[in-house]
Amino acid sequence: MELTVVDRDGTARALQAKSGEVLMPLLRDGIDVAIGICGGVISCGTCLVILDEGWSGHVASPSDDETDMLEALDAPPGARLACQLTLSDAVAGLRLTIAPEA
Ligand code: FES
Repeated sequence: MELTVVDRDGTARALQAKSGEVLMPLLRDGIDVAIGICGGVISCGTCLVILDEGWSGHVASPSDDETDMLEALDAPPGARLACQLTLSDAVAGLRLTIAPEA
């Protein structure tokens, strides 16, 4: 499937992904952006992404730990931690923006 990722500099890039992959490593390795400092254990918040409107219902709801981190980051609507998003075919065509560095 193809995703569209808007980088921190505003550049939109196509990213190939497969169902079952976790989003954070894909962004870190495919977009070469400095995210995922904690390795995906919900302690850094560097993997914050904002899904375009309408896509939040296509991914699993956040866990309590992810919700706590999103609140601590004062994250906007549609925000998720990329380390907690496992992709499925339901997100084919997803467009998201990597949040600015805190
Ligand atoms: S990689 Fe640290 S919170 Fe997602």
